[in-house]
Amino acid sequence: MTCDLREKILQYNGRVPRYTSYPAAPHFQIDENRTGGHWVKTMPEGTDLSLYIHIPFCQKMCWYCGCHTKITRRYAPIEDYVHLVVREIDLLAAALPGDHRIKQIHFGGGSPGLVRATDFALIMDRIRSHFSVADSAEIAIEIDPRNISEGRVATYAKHGVNRISLGVQDFNNKTLKAVNREQPFHLTYEGLKLIRGYGIKRINMDVLYGLPHQNVETVLATLEKVLLLNPDRVAFFGYAHVPWMKKHMRMIDEGTLPKEDLRFDIFHAGTAFLNKAGYKTIGIDHFAKGDDPLYQSLQNGTLRRNFQGYTTDQTPALIGIGASAIGQTKNGFIQNHPDLPLYKQAILAEDLPIKKICPIGRDDEIRARIIENLMCYFTVNLNEICHNFGLDLSDFSRELDALKPYQTLGFVTCDSNVITIHPDAILMVRTICSIFDRYFQPQNNADAPRHARAI
Ligand SMILES: C[S@@+](CC[C@H](N)C(=O)[O-])C[C@H]1O[C@@H](n2cnc3c(N)ncnc32)[C@H](O)[C@@H]1O
Ligand code: SF4
Repeated sequence: MTCDLREKILQYNGRVPRYTSYPAAPHFQIDENRTGGHWVKTMPEGTDLSLYIHIPFCQKMCWYCGCHTKITRRYAPIEDYVHLVVREIDLLAAALPGDHRIKQIHFGGGSPGLVRATDFALIMDRIRSHFSVADSAEIAIEIDPRNISEGRVATYAKHGVNRISLGVQDFNNKTLKAVNREQPFHLTYEGLKLIRGYGIKRINMDVLYGLPHQNVETVLATLEKVLLLNPDRVAFFGYAHVPWMKKHMRMIDEGTLPKEDLRFDIFHAGTAFLNKAGYKTIGIDHFAKGDDPLYQSLQNGTLRRNFQGYTTDQTPALIGIGASAIGQTKNGFIQNHPDLPLYKQAILAEDLPIKKICPIGRDDEIRARIIENLMCYFTVNLNEICHNFGLDLSDFSRELDALKPYQTLGFVTCDSNVITIHPDAILMVRTICSIFDRYFQPQNNADAPRHARAI
């Protein structure tokens, strides 16, 4: 990459949404009229479903954590919560008309690995008692290597879990100490041996860059260890530092965080390292082996982006279960109460625990398609979009004008209305997406930042 392009990209490092959805989550509205429940109740019979089950508990807070979670040292709150989740599954099954097949189940958090084996079995049994789970269904769980036990792993295998995502973050002790996460390499190594020993073969690992004390050498050393463990996929996330939203991030000494130029260099060094080792780049932060379904879906044009990041999931409806969980139907997004007491209150009142919704109108659908294409493939053909949605190119004249400065900078080309991000400027993709985001307001007011920076 030319120094010139690097410098220009660093100058345009604005605050932009992550685009795991469009419209982005800050634009969801309170569901005053119980519209979300109506969307669930009127879902066409036979619609295939994906389930996302959120477990918002951890034993110790990692200072960098941006997830929706709560610290507990006791098991009682988790046990109580599992029973609420099971009741929510009953409520959903009663609300949904007719039969539905489950094509994907994803347990996320928080730390779903804290759920005891018997409780995990309870959730899976309850899902299977109401729905048929496709033989080919992907059943995935996010696991903190500090929570692995043989009893739990055996239960995951027995209940059909076939993908495990391990949170590595970093293997460097100085970095781990600075983020309040003690996690020696041997825990991940031994946990993985157990997981593979029980026949769970598909493994993802999460690594973060932008954490305290990291530099190119330390992150490459972590990635080298990660590759010794031979995962199918690596998620190489840029740390989103948003202390105004997540107060515990204030525990991080900002002076120890790599500056944006170093973050940029770590990202590119990490990408080159993973590519050289045979991992293909998927979007802005995923890497997968050539025979992994994620890479195959990139190749055949079926890659999608959703709240879990990049996914092969083609299912028409995603149902979020648990506090704060987000789902998506053809009508729009649905988010459950993030607040545990309100979530509990709704379930005990035999109500779907929906707090917010975001209806998807035709304009949203078109823009979501453009943004998803850019996020997944770094290119979008506006002629095709216009043809498919019966639009005229002049409908995008504002956006095409707004794109021009970025063309001059060399971040993007627009040839015959095909927009393509320069391969060395892929970290600018969210900024380019924001041009097509009708709700986006550039955040020049430093006192009220809402999003993390692009780099
Ligand atoms: C729910 S956590 C993973 C499961 C488990 N709790 C663990 O920590 O191992 C999901 C992933 O989000 C990523 N993550 C958490 N906070 C983040 C942040 N502020 N910015 C970017 N990625 C973050 C981490 O890589 C983490 O593994
Ligand atoms: S990174 Fe994982 S273990 Fe750490 S606080 Fe967040 S959800 Fe919990």
